[in-house]
Amino acid sequence: MPKLVKQLKEQKALELSHVKSLTPVAEATVNPLVRALIQAIIQDSGKHASICQALMDVDAGESTPKLDLDMAVAVELHQNIKQHIRVESSMITRLESMVKEAGDDRVAELLRYMLDDERRHHSLLTQLSNLLDRDEAAYDEYMRLFQTFMVVPPEG
Ligand SMILES: [Fe+2]
Ligand SMILES: [Fe+2]
Repeated sequence: MPKLVKQLKEQKALELSHVKSLTPVAEATVNPLVRALIQAIIQDSGKHASICQALMDVDAGESTPKLDLDMAVAVELHQNIKQHIRVESSMITRLESMVKEAGDDRVAELLRYMLDDERRHHSLLTQLSNLLDRDEAAYDEYMRLFQTFMVVPPEG
């Protein structure tokens, strides 16, 4: 096992134990704003664990795995993704109007943050749909999408 894969395995275990031990902390937190902050760390840790697993599955980039899915599985996945593209679209529309209606600037800013996330989700799913639509997409293209989506771009 390459050294990095071993470290990813340990990192994943750390992230998951963080999720496990922080969950009751969040549940016991009365202040809703603090609770949401702790929950955000829990979600991020779950996301970090998923990234570790995916990188382990592609051998930390050391080999080029075959990512092609069985045809029936691919068609079903593609259908599900298309449906969720529509869900993300409606979330974007809703949030846009909520941002306009928010009386408190700080609340509006948080809603804008969510709106940015929904736009990223929509864009990711659209790009994913385009990749799945092709008979053959290269590992590099999936890797690039994974990379650009998982790494939150700096505020511009
Ligand atoms: Fe983490
Ligand atoms: Fe979303």
